[in-house]
Amino acid sequence: MTDRYYVTTPIYYVNAQPHLGHAYTTIVNDVLARFHRLRGLETWFLTGTDEHGDKIVQAAQAAGETPQAYADRISGMFRDTWPLLNISNDDFIRTTEPRHREVVQAVLTRVHDKGDIYFGKYGGWYCFGCERFYTEKELVDGLCPDHQKEPTFIEEENYFFRMGRYQDWLIRHIREHPDFIRPERYRNEALSFLKEPLEDLCISRPKSRLTWGIPLPFDDRFVTYVWADALINYVSALGWPDGERFRAFWPAAQHTIAKDILKPHAIYWPTLLQSAGIGPYQHLNVHGYWKIGESKMSKSVGNVVEALHMREVYGLDAFRYFLLRDMVFGLDSSFSEEALVGRINADLANDLGNLCQRSLTMVGKFGRGAAPEAARARAEGGELRTAGREAVEVYLREFEVLGFHKALIAVWELINRANKFIDREAPWALAKDPAMRVRLDEVLYELLEALALISGLIEPVMPDTAAEMRRQIGLDPDFPSLDPDEIARALSPGLPIRQGAALFPRVELGGAPAGGKASKPGAGKPAAETAAEPGPAGESISFDDFKKLDLRVGRITAAERIPKADKLLKLTVDTGEERTVVAGLAKEYSPEDMVGRQVIVVVNLPPAKLMGVKSEGMLLAAKDDDGLALLTVSRETRPGSKVS
Ligand code: MSP
Repeated sequence: MTDRYYVTTPIYYVNAQPHLGHAYTTIVNDVLARFHRLRGLETWFLTGTDEHGDKIVQAAQAAGETPQAYADRISGMFRDTWPLLNISNDDFIRTTEPRHREVVQAVLTRVHDKGDIYFGKYGGWYCFGCERFYTEKELVDGLCPDHQKEPTFIEEENYFFRMGRYQDWLIRHIREHPDFIRPERYRNEALSFLKEPLEDLCISRPKSRLTWGIPLPFDDRFVTYVWADALINYVSALGWPDGERFRAFWPAAQHTIAKDILKPHAIYWPTLLQSAGIGPYQHLNVHGYWKIGESKMSKSVGNVVEALHMREVYGLDAFRYFLLRDMVFGLDSSFSEEALVGRINADLANDLGNLCQRSLTMVGKFGRGAAPEAARARAEGGELRTAGREAVEVYLREFEVLGFHKALIAVWELINRANKFIDREAPWALAKDPAMRVRLDEVLYELLEALALISGLIEPVMPDTAAEMRRQIGLDPDFPSLDPDEIARALSPGLPIRQGAALFPRVELGGAPAGGKASKPGAGKPAAETAAEPGPAGESISFDDFKKLDLRVGRITAAERIPKADKLLKLTVDTGEERTVVAGLAKEYSPEDMVGRQVIVVVNLPPAKLMGVKSEGMLLAAKDDDGLALLTVSRETRPGSKVS
């Protein structure tokens, strides 16, 4: 086991803007990088853009730009997108940079000097979309299997890499290192490519046909084939051959890609590395596709999900959590906003958000400082400490084999265990009995410790939420830990609890009224949420329950429609303090009609995010066959007045 870790994304073509598919691979790599940093490994995380080749020239022409200007623009979009998704890459490489060009030429010179490159004539079926030749056998009904387009027959002189020389070595290497390519299904797929003799790889394009590329070092009438150019980014970015970084990180290299580019990474790249005397990478991690329904996401099909849009509507950490939790690494998964909303409400708002809020409220109310010394001493052997250790064990094991969803399930088992612990121990009841003071301290301390550990466990996937949890607990937000002993030391007596807003407000798909329907009925919801459900007059509730509702008179001071949501209005309401309320009233009331009205507002619901707008309350309205009618007061009343 080395104490370093080097992880890479594919370098993305600059012929499309970053979408959910690119975001997924990049977020997975970010999660891996953050996880390994958390484990104390020296980590290097690389991403970048692939900018040469026919495809880019064609896209630039279509955009009316030079290839360089076009590549600068789209590469900039990738570079600017990643910080918005909290991607912690250490470097961003572009294949048009001199540092890359020099290394490509140096690697090819090595391979050429070794006698592994020859000049020859080749005729074959070429797909411009894939930028590669196909053999007759690979075509499906004469068409490119990926683009379903007829390839063009091209005959030309080119340079070829003798890939076949390394075939036996590669088969042996894959057999001897069972996790070289993982999960196993892709290892098997690679071995099945290797059942047939490998054809030599054409690594050049004549300049008469394509000039947008890196000139071959031994014949400048040719440029380098884009895959032979692109793969080398993984070592050029480290400063091969003499760079300090190359020496430090190459032995710990892992590439993460989707299955579409398995062959270049599993066959071309290791054989090229072997020929150049560089030595193979450690692991190739291969995931499946995010699909929309049954189809692969693609610009031409028009079903591309914009990652940034998802982040704006649902929040970044929720989006990252969903991607890691809902895809089994290696298999395809279907993306749907309904599933995302379901996860947010169930796992994040109900389970995690609720645990945090309940625990900290009780520590604030019943606690004697955050962590009385005696309770700390007794936590060893406590239920949550033990459950925490078990969760960490499963989590670490699963992370090592890319079982992100299983690692997160283990964390959520701990969260649910802690929620049940509260229900069973009932701190509010312990607080009423002076004889139970010691037990109360223990229960509250165990909860704090579990929360701190959970914040460490979610750190790689949801870094902002994890830091906010630690801030609320009173710990240093920048020091996540998975070590209960370390956490116990940090939770010194008297830490200031700083409970803030709910971590995850409930969300709904666009169009529904604020307040939120629960996806898990009854699970930890405030009474006001169920009270908002329509239906006949139901069971009676206690007066105490009714009193939990904080209803205030408000005056609407501004109103506007929310784009793409035909039922929603964004309102600014003066309820003694100014708040934003999103209301599903646009069918009945125009924005102009709303301004100046006095309304009744529920002001103590947790905030909810609707179409990306945070709503901090709910207006009361009656509903009949004609739609909704706003509730109001029968005379002008001071904003903020209580309604009872
Ligand atoms: N430029 C090459 C890679 C060269 S690496 C030396 C390339 N670029 S790409 O822009 O087409 O990116 C392909 C990668 O984007 C996939 O391998 C995957 O990481 C990601 N994805 C694109 N669409 C995807 C899905 N629908 N689902 C999951 N990942 C997807 O190939």
